[in-house]
Amino acid sequence: MKVLVLFDLPRPVNPDKAFTPEILREKQDRPTEADVITCLEGLGHEVGTLAVYDSLSDVVQKIVNFAPDVVFNLCESFFNDRAKEPNIPALLELMRVRYTGAGPEALMLSKDKVLAKTILIYHHIRVPRFLLSRKGRPLRRLAKFKFPAFVKPSGEESSDGIAKASFARNEEEALDRARFVHESLGCDAMIEEYIEGRELYVSVLGDRRVTVFPPRELFFGRMPESEPRFATFKAKWDGAYRANWGIHNGPAAVFPDGVEKKVINLARRVYTLLKIQGLGRVDLRLTPGGELVFIEANPNPSLESEDDFAQSAAAAGITYPALIQRILDSARC
Ligand SMILES: Nc1ncnc2c1ncn2[C@@H]1O[C@H](COP(=O)(O)OP(=O)(O)O)[C@@H](O)[C@H]1O
Ligand SMILES: [Mg+2]
Repeated sequence: MKVLVLFDLPRPVNPDKAFTPEILREKQDRPTEADVITCLEGLGHEVGTLAVYDSLSDVVQKIVNFAPDVVFNLCESFFNDRAKEPNIPALLELMRVRYTGAGPEALMLSKDKVLAKTILIYHHIRVPRFLLSRKGRPLRRLAKFKFPAFVKPSGEESSDGIAKASFARNEEEALDRARFVHESLGCDAMIEEYIEGRELYVSVLGDRRVTVFPPRELFFGRMPESEPRFATFKAKWDGAYRANWGIHNGPAAVFPDGVEKKVINLARRVYTLLKIQGLGRVDLRLTPGGELVFIEANPNPSLESEDDFAQSAAAAGITYPALIQRILDSARC
């Protein structure tokens, strides 16, 4: 197949520039794109690349000129703005070109954390109770809110804006953190019920026929049990910090009787209700009391070969090339 790998960069790039896996890994710090391209080439596909920043006409021109059978969509922003992520598959649909991964609906529903949770509440899925503090109209009181709370940006990803101070023991700490989110990140803040428990990542593949892979878990290693444990930016991305505390991702530890089945069923339901297609990762917490609580859905999760999605597929016996080929085969217009 002729495959165009589409991804985003935070600056303008010549549309004719071809990105090799080496350049992507070493100069651009883009291991996912590097892994996917290496794999597609290994599978015998003809691969083209386009880095997207702010030029719609470059995208259109490239698709017209290269005429790919499929666009492998790894694009997470436009104008370096992650809120614009859904517009890319929307454009691909209008161009009637087949593309991989989530459509615009799933991205819009999941990325709007308030909307996603509201839909799930309607379907009786347990989510953290929450309030929204708007940037232009910040909350001043949190009447009757039960603490501790967890304060996070409503429209960011990848643990941006998530630090130890996201955990708030009382009203003052929660409102302080919400103010920080408004002022430093420039967005609305969700003030959520803090959910203590194990952190689970459940990868799902497919459309009408959906496969749920064995759950993965974030292990907090030597981080003191007396402190709240959650995926701060550092815990997710800072290799030295992770090594220092023994924080790591791996196959989920043993579940109490019957819980794994519930995890799998919940992930499948969330995936379907939020209209995710192609692939997705559903993040949950399992409380010490055995309750499963939805945290977030990620349409188009990272496809880096070492990351949770590919690793959970591997645990189900699907090699990385087989996974990439399945994603390619499930591309739609
Ligand atoms: N209500 C909550 N209670 C406890 N921990 C939470 C809560 N919401 C988020 N977290 C922690 O913060 C991390 C990042 O939150 P998430 O909503 O997934 O944002 P992002 O889009 O940045 O990944 C989660 O993986 C989890 O560890
Ligand atoms: Mg998350």
